[in-house]
Amino acid sequence: MSNIESVLVENRVFPPSEQAVKSARISGMEAYNALCDEANKDFEGFWARLARDNLVWTKPFTKTLDESKAPFYEWFEDGELNASANCLDKHIGTPTENKTAIVFEADDGAVTRVSYKELLGRVSQFANALKAQGIKKGDRVIIYVPMSIEGVVAMQACARIGATHSVVFGGFSAKALNERIIDAGAVAVITANYQMRGGKEMPLKAIVDEGIAMGGCDTLKTVLVFMRTPTTCGMTAGRDKTFTEVLQGQPSECRPEAVGAEHPLFILYTSGSTGKPKGVQHSTGGYLLWAKLTMDWTFDIKPSDVFWCTADIGWITGHTYVAYGPLAAGATQVIFEGIPTYPSAGRFWQMIEKHKVTVFYTAPTAIRSLIKAAEGDEKIHPARYDLTSLRILGTVGEPINPEAWMWYHKHVGGERCPIVDTWWQTETGGHMITPLPGATPTVPGSCTLPLPGIMAAIVDDLGKDLPHGDGGILVIKRPWPSMIRTIWGDPERYKASYYPPELGGKLYLAGDAAARSADRGYFRIGGRIDDVLNVSGHRLGTMEIESALVSKTDLVAEAAVVGRPDDLTGEAVCAFVVLKRSRPTGDEAKQIANELRNWVAKEIGPIAKPKDIRFGDNLPKTRSGKIMRRLLRSIAKGEAITQDTSTLENPAILEQLAEKL
Ligand code: WT7
Repeated sequence: MSNIESVLVENRVFPPSEQAVKSARISGMEAYNALCDEANKDFEGFWARLARDNLVWTKPFTKTLDESKAPFYEWFEDGELNASANCLDKHIGTPTENKTAIVFEADDGAVTRVSYKELLGRVSQFANALKAQGIKKGDRVIIYVPMSIEGVVAMQACARIGATHSVVFGGFSAKALNERIIDAGAVAVITANYQMRGGKEMPLKAIVDEGIAMGGCDTLKTVLVFMRTPTTCGMTAGRDKTFTEVLQGQPSECRPEAVGAEHPLFILYTSGSTGKPKGVQHSTGGYLLWAKLTMDWTFDIKPSDVFWCTADIGWITGHTYVAYGPLAAGATQVIFEGIPTYPSAGRFWQMIEKHKVTVFYTAPTAIRSLIKAAEGDEKIHPARYDLTSLRILGTVGEPINPEAWMWYHKHVGGERCPIVDTWWQTETGGHMITPLPGATPTVPGSCTLPLPGIMAAIVDDLGKDLPHGDGGILVIKRPWPSMIRTIWGDPERYKASYYPPELGGKLYLAGDAAARSADRGYFRIGGRIDDVLNVSGHRLGTMEIESALVSKTDLVAEAAVVGRPDDLTGEAVCAFVVLKRSRPTGDEAKQIANELRNWVAKEIGPIAKPKDIRFGDNLPKTRSGKIMRRLLRSIAKGEAITQDTSTLENPAILEQLAEKL
């Protein structure tokens, strides 16, 4: 699409349908504005009301927000509750108890259903099994499992006994797992023997064994193994037990452990600017409030809905909109084990048809790759499936380009479903800036307006407010209930990363560039302002990949990693490498590049593999020895160098680095 056309598309406005306005909880912009006014007039009163209305408290809170230890904010601090009771027990004795909580579709298409009542029984039994293994309130438990009912059961069971879970995405490496076990001081790992993806059986337990064997996991006592497939796996006597073994004889009733509202429900590791991933710590009360409330507000979830969020439980989206939100809202949800392209790239559309999905939530990268597939093969075009059950569509994880938005609107939503483009982060716990399906007129490529009570703003790099129309950095001016509480074990890093003194120390720095439109004040997200890349909606630190590359000490002398725009994955990883030996060319360069890619996959995970590797005798540096990353970004994009290179120590290097393998 030409630039002119895309500008035209961007300026189109799609008001919510009359039907959507009529049926929605937040109906029309007046209702949205009324909630915003309520929050503006009485910030604490607003949140206190919502927390009372939306959660079951075993001990009611008397304090709403404590700012005395800012930027370590506390919400509902003297209240007590249990997250699992708020997702399961509260439905017992209501019409929801016999409703399907989860429709699980396996990689091979086999479908399993569990009702709320059955799920409560399974979670309780698993919670008893955890207790029998000596796991107790406050302990950390790593969960490294495929998408499964068992995964959700494991998370909910930890919450039930007050253990803090830390889910590690099944695509992360043994090394990444080892670092997380150590950082969290985990007492147990919950895993599976294998995972099934695209018809292939892939090991998980073997990776756990490898991770533990790397050493340092001194706190770890137990490994619990879900036998997903009949294939056996190595078991270490005394340490490793199958689910069947530990569940045997355990009753399916377990009293939920009441915890303080600030008790850490989970830690989720995510990439930051520096090498080491950050353990983002979330609370119980504030987090759960937002999970429940955003299900109601953003997805306008109704008892008759079938909700499907395609995210893996290893990411924050899979925490808030698979493991907690849908259950807290009493919804029926689809959980999918496999991949969108198996057995064909029509799988998502086929599943929407089969399960009569009404609210569908996925990533722009998935949409873009399915557009490409549908263009190449008419048989898997969404037009070939009955998608009339859909009523709301959502996107998450990265900016959606207006072309993909239009395709999603037209071919998946049948021009009738509002699209909620939800901006948020691992640290925010849930949606922050998003349209409301029965209120907000949408504009392709814009996440529109903040949710009520979320004080989002655009400022310059000194923290000064910028007028609409000006690009700047995105900040949140007041705390909100589901915000990150700290970085596990590193409060100083939390302060420096999110409340930097340069901005005055009182603004939450999201790390994204953004602008508000001059007319409506709608937000448009530009991309990260730090050294974080967004590849297919997955967050990767450039420094993390650089450290992985230079840890191959026999080969690599120096490495610099930057992102470049990619039509399919949003951004792609581009690595500039100086070897300890002479600069390779031709086939040899290709072979070494592959070796390095596999090395990165082993160090971090396949998602971090550089798409592009360039070799140079050196890297472009200033005379003071600083790598000129801006120059590298231009080279990665294939742009002509227009920047001033007069301060460059070694200008000749640029030609070498521009050479593709
Ligand atoms: C970063 C956070 C949100 C949960 C999944 C990713 C980018 C996220 C959008 C959106 C533009 C978006 C931002 C953000 N991002 N949603 N709707 N439009 N950009 O969570 O891994 O913590 O990544 O994803 O850059 O900072 P995450």
